[in-house]
Amino acid sequence: MSRVELRSVSKRYPKADDLAVKQISFEIPDGELVVILGPSGCGKTTTLRMLAGLEGVTSGEILFDGKPVQDTPPAARNIAMAFENYGLYEQWDVFDNIAYPLRLRSVPDAQIESSVTGIASGLGIADYLGQRPGALSGGVRQRIGLARALVRDPSVFLLDEPMSHVDADGRNDMRLEIRRIHERTGATMVIVTHDQEDALMMADRILIMNEGGIEQYDTPRQIYDAPATAFVAGFVGEPPMNILSVSRSGDSLDGAGFAASIPYGLDAALVPGRQLVAFRPHLTRIVSGPAAGAAGGLVLTGQVYMVEPFGERTIVTVQVGQTRVKVESRAQESYDLDSVVSLLVRTEDLHVFADPAGSGRGERF
Ligand SMILES: Nc1ncnc2c1ncn2[C@@H]1O[C@H](COP(=O)(O)OP(=O)(O)OP(=O)(O)O)[C@@H](O)[C@H]1O
Ligand SMILES: [Mg+2]
Repeated sequence: MSRVELRSVSKRYPKADDLAVKQISFEIPDGELVVILGPSGCGKTTTLRMLAGLEGVTSGEILFDGKPVQDTPPAARNIAMAFENYGLYEQWDVFDNIAYPLRLRSVPDAQIESSVTGIASGLGIADYLGQRPGALSGGVRQRIGLARALVRDPSVFLLDEPMSHVDADGRNDMRLEIRRIHERTGATMVIVTHDQEDALMMADRILIMNEGGIEQYDTPRQIYDAPATAFVAGFVGEPPMNILSVSRSGDSLDGAGFAASIPYGLDAALVPGRQLVAFRPHLTRIVSGPAAGAAGGLVLTGQVYMVEPFGERTIVTVQVGQTRVKVESRAQESYDLDSVVSLLVRTEDLHVFADPAGSGRGERF
């Protein structure tokens, strides 16, 4: 088992102008499952490869249980990896591919047999054990690669997009299986994904990266309920949070083609100048007709742009000035296109962020 720590780690690839990873620092307590989440190119794989020792760090320190490992080769770090390019041995059958890390460690045959069949049935690939990987689908091959990583008992598991080639059904099973193995072994796990559902369902803690830096490192609950930045607010949640750019003038909030009163309780948070106000679609109430009377929170008026039924819920898109706001409402409610509706969000469900244009997020490094 291992506690993993990165201290101000940066990575610049040879000949690249920009840093791929910019002075990131975070700590993974022993035995936690951390998911690194972020858009394509944000530095997830680079971070994982530096943890594995497959890439050197340009500056900063990586520590396992308090000891720097920058100079420790991958084989001596006691890690198990599954990367997107599976690296299966095509001339061996699936059983032997999965058994390989155990054979390297001279594990007794009976134990290999039970470990391999156990993990294969957990990942739904028991039927393929006697076949060679070449003829199997991308999803199955990926599960073989994952099984080979999970069959060991290392200090740290590093998994890069372990489910990217697997269909939705298989994905759910794999999430369960990875979590089970995590609970059973108590090993530290780092999993890279760009799928927020993977992250919310599996992680003890989520590291959200963007453009080589860290946006937030927190529990799934906190990431969802209290996003630290507008980027996180817009990245996590389906549909994502509504984010309105507003500027305060006196007691009024002016947006693009709309105006609202300052919600009670937000007087101090809303400073003069441009800011972002964000709120979740399912925490937005929608009622037909223009707003009547005073309300405590944010009140907006708009026109129904589209109504999309999704089984037990309905997503209503409302045009508010030049911005479209999404509302998640109950399935039995219906609204006429272009009819006037009011939206109400309680003050405690509103999030205020500095407008990135003025906040200097990009200047942090
Ligand atoms: N071997 C390399 N040489 C030069 N630049 C690289 C190399 N590998 C990655 N990069 C660059 O470093 C940045 C981070 O890439 P990285 O692969 O870590 O992103 P990622 O978050 O894993 O993206 P994805 O979700 O697409 O896998 C990108 O700008 C990428 O183009
Ligand atoms: Mg990647």
